[in-house]
Amino acid sequence: MSLWIHLGINAMSTMLLSASNYTMQVISSPTRKEVDDAHAKSRWLDIGIPSTRNLRSISWGRITMWIILGLSSVPLHLMYNTAVFSSLSANAYDYIVVSEDFFDSSAVYNASIGFSTIDILNAMHEAAVNGNLSNYTSAECMTMYGVNFVSKARNVLLVTNTRDTTNNSVLASQEWDGTQEIPYSWICGDGWDGDPYADQMQVCTTTIAQAAATDWTVSGHHISYCMVEVVEEKCQLSFSLVIMLIVIAVNASKACIMILTAWKLNEPTLVTIGDAVASFLKDPDPTSEGICLSTKMDIQKKRWKLQTAKPWTPKKHFWFRAASVKRWLICNILCIGVIGLGIFLLTQGMDGIDIYNIKALWELGFGTVSANSVVTVAPTGLIATTLFANLPQGILSFLYLTYNGLFSCMLGALEWNRFGRFRKPLRVTAPEGTQRSTYYLQLPYTYAIPLLLMSGGLHWLMSQSLFLALVNVYDDDGEFDAENSISTVGYSCIAIFAALIVGGVAVVCGIANGFRRYDDGIPLVGSCSAAISAACHPPKEDSMAHLMPVKWGKVERDPGSDGVGHCCFSSFEVERPVSGDLYAGTKEKYS
Ligand SMILES: *[C@@H]1O[C@H](CO)[C@@H](O)[C@H](O)[C@H]1NC(C)=O
Ligand SMILES: *[C@@H]1O[C@H](CO)[C@@H](O)[C@H](O)[C@H]1NC(C)=O
Ligand SMILES: *[C@@H]1O[C@H](CO)[C@@H](O)[C@H](O)[C@H]1NC(C)=O
Ligand SMILES: *[C@@H]1O[C@H](CO)[C@@H](O)[C@H](O)[C@H]1NC(C)=O
Ligand SMILES: *[C@@H]1O[C@H](CO)[C@@H](O)[C@H](O)[C@H]1NC(C)=O
Repeated sequence: MSLWIHLGINAMSTMLLSASNYTMQVISSPTRKEVDDAHAKSRWLDIGIPSTRNLRSISWGRITMWIILGLSSVPLHLMYNTAVFSSLSANAYDYIVVSEDFFDSSAVYNASIGFSTIDILNAMHEAAVNGNLSNYTSAECMTMYGVNFVSKARNVLLVTNTRDTTNNSVLASQEWDGTQEIPYSWICGDGWDGDPYADQMQVCTTTIAQAAATDWTVSGHHISYCMVEVVEEKCQLSFSLVIMLIVIAVNASKACIMILTAWKLNEPTLVTIGDAVASFLKDPDPTSEGICLSTKMDIQKKRWKLQTAKPWTPKKHFWFRAASVKRWLICNILCIGVIGLGIFLLTQGMDGIDIYNIKALWELGFGTVSANSVVTVAPTGLIATTLFANLPQGILSFLYLTYNGLFSCMLGALEWNRFGRFRKPLRVTAPEGTQRSTYYLQLPYTYAIPLLLMSGGLHWLMSQSLFLALVNVYDDDGEFDAENSISTVGYSCIAIFAALIVGGVAVVCGIANGFRRYDDGIPLVGSCSAAISAACHPPKEDSMAHLMPVKWGKVERDPGSDGVGHCCFSSFEVERPVSGDLYAGTKEKYS
């Protein structure tokens, strides 16, 4: 149940966060007026990608809404997954060393022997006589009890064939609640006190492995086999009211902002490159006249206002040129850093449980609180533990944001690049004429769906890697023992391993995509509003270009006296510009 609920939760949160991201994008996109104002001050804005550059140029109301949407995503990432959590049960138990006589004797115990109470002795005796105990070999018994949390069994009779001088059928007994430093050290016998904990653990694990095959001695008695009181496992699925309330509150605030955006944001913003091109074709931007071959680089280097004709030099740019160096560095350094940290923690985790092969780790399972996979430094208290367990989710969300930003840059540039080769209608938020509507997801489906699956999958793996570990302890009578019950953070090595593999593949894919090349038929403008507007000065007669399929290229023109041509988006025939020719745009002929 926990598995399916968490898959569902992750699917929902992915959708919710995508919707929130989309709204943030709409809000932070500039309106045409804001673009014009910025251009008038020789500044440019970002179109079609998530960016903070635009925040300097948009209204306070929208900045506030943007911030609320952004901030409300943080608790969602940190808490959504722990709104529902499962808890295990652990049983305290008595181990009682008995001789075979214990089963024949009709004796009723009226005094405690060893540390077990009269009640337990009699109950075990009765269960044994009634055949209510299960017969396990020594090896099975050691495996069953050699774990941190014994959940499927309680009291156990360790049957020996030796006798002592008092002729008692009960030779020794002990109450065991698992709070001892090594939760099952009784199995290993004594004799290694003073060794460091890890060594003791090692010795005990090894002892169990060896002794199981040959000789097992408890309290000086050789154990032949065990009779185990098998009980039903009492696991539990719970939800936290406080966390639910926080999640509901931030979701509600997100919903309000989204509704407000749909309702009150009357002036359309230029969300996609298609929106910007349509707007600039319909109403060309006077500040970018005469620089029709401008690239983002030209604009950044302040060659904006020089307005000279520029020779066309076709170049097949790498995809990575579409995003800034800063963006690439931030994303990849962070990703590689986090993967490195993950590898370090994985080795620590494997040390913690002393298992170093993948098959054995796989058998421990995803997200299961097993033997020792509990973080010993975890904070206490449900909220603090929750935040600690979900920290990786928050980090992952941030990484994904930067990763997705890279793809948005590269694929936005690809969309632009295609206009140099094919005639296509513009992709806009509110289509008119032959315009196409925008994708449901921000990127083309061929990229959006794999990215979404990867992100959802990684979040799920993270939720299985480090998770809330809740263990309800029951005492040897089967009563709930609140004092010894634990709520902490557990980890699963195999899930961490899988997450690292998926994350590593994602980083490599991102970089590999950067080494693909664009076609050389159109300048690389990236998301730069000024360079986009420079390419949108169509011939005067082409006033409906924004509603029709368009293509970028050299527009037909009388062989000019100055030999300078003009390139732009147009619904008319266009040709690929000629390498080495000069191109600009003149006020008289081109609006
Ligand atoms: C236990 O029972 C035996 C007889 O079965 C009796 O002799 C003995 O006194 C009893 N002990 C206690 C502590 O009641
Ligand atoms: C085990 O004990 C229960 C009563 O607690 C009894 O009903 C049942 O028959 C016993 N099982 C066996 C196999 O004797
Ligand atoms: C338990 O099984 C062993 C053999 O595996 C057998 O010798 C022993 O008698 C059995 N004990 C009981 C109480 O059934
Ligand atoms: C021990 O028990 C056996 C039978 O159960 C009996 O024959 C023997 O006398 C007892 N020995 C002592 C010292 O009580
Ligand atoms: C967020 O929105 C931007 C712009 O619309 C888009 O490019 C990006 O893919 C989206 N990111 C996520 C994480 O969905």
